[in-house]
Amino acid sequence: MSVTVRVPAKVNAQLAVGAARPDGFHDLANVFLAVGLYDEVTATPAASLRLTCTGPDADQVPLDESNLAARAARALAGRYGVEPAVHLHLAKDIPVAGGMAGGSADAAGALVACDALWGTHAPREELLEICAELGSDVPFSLVGGAALGTGRGERLRPLEVGGTFHWVFAVADGGLSTPAVYREFDRLTEGTDVPEPVASDALLSALAKGDATALAAALTNDLQPAALSLRPALADTLAAGREAGALAALVSGSGPTTAFLAPDAETATRVARSLTASGTCRTARTTTAPAPGATVLS
Ligand code: C5P
Repeated sequence: MSVTVRVPAKVNAQLAVGAARPDGFHDLANVFLAVGLYDEVTATPAASLRLTCTGPDADQVPLDESNLAARAARALAGRYGVEPAVHLHLAKDIPVAGGMAGGSADAAGALVACDALWGTHAPREELLEICAELGSDVPFSLVGGAALGTGRGERLRPLEVGGTFHWVFAVADGGLSTPAVYREFDRLTEGTDVPEPVASDALLSALAKGDATALAAALTNDLQPAALSLRPALADTLAAGREAGALAALVSGSGPTTAFLAPDAETATRVARSLTASGTCRTARTTTAPAPGATVLS
């Protein structure tokens, strides 16, 4: 008697960041694209809430109450007056603290898995509300596909995608703290006039047409200078991917994973091989986008 949910990673095709708000968050125009790297969350009845984790970075995942998956289970249980007596197992394939929303994926996965296991059958709107309370990227992990996130990224509008995009992700050694990257963004932009974040029409149209060349020309990440400032070696990874034939290279979200858009599957494989051989990353993975959101497997 257990439920397994598969949840995708994301890349930000556009991450436009506004000035820090009074609450410390930043208004965003965040074009999320779900990609085919997945975590799986399995919920099984247990005596009390318990977390386990497997995967290449499992030792870096906190297994206490601070874990977003545990907080998701507690949030749902609290609303429905259910005991959060569940064992959550996280089979992690998404890089940890990598800028690909792995923690958010686990939260969305835990929520959907517990909802099915406990038979709470929360309406989708309520699940999305809980997701938004848990973190800015969690609602997108639930819905997947492609979406424009505004506010702090939690208010979503689904976007049309007219084809399959081929991506390569270079996984770095060690993670980067998202709050630290935003703080570095604040430091780098101090005293400057940070414009209101606005979604790029060129980018939305490239997505809708499935045009990789146009998408490559429109990809932007306002957190990239901050991530590069904290981790200057990422510039070498970006350069290695470009030299290997990527149409574009950028930091994924707050990093340190770097993302490379390829024109086709063959080029993606070649770029991944070159990146791995370059010694500028731990490993490189190929995948496609868009990918579906949180999906119950069993
Ligand atoms: O929402 P979430 O908990 O994932 O955000 C993690 C951190 O990232 C926040 O504490 C904040 O420092 C930063 N952040 C931000 N503006 C956003 C989203 C996140 O400053 N829109």
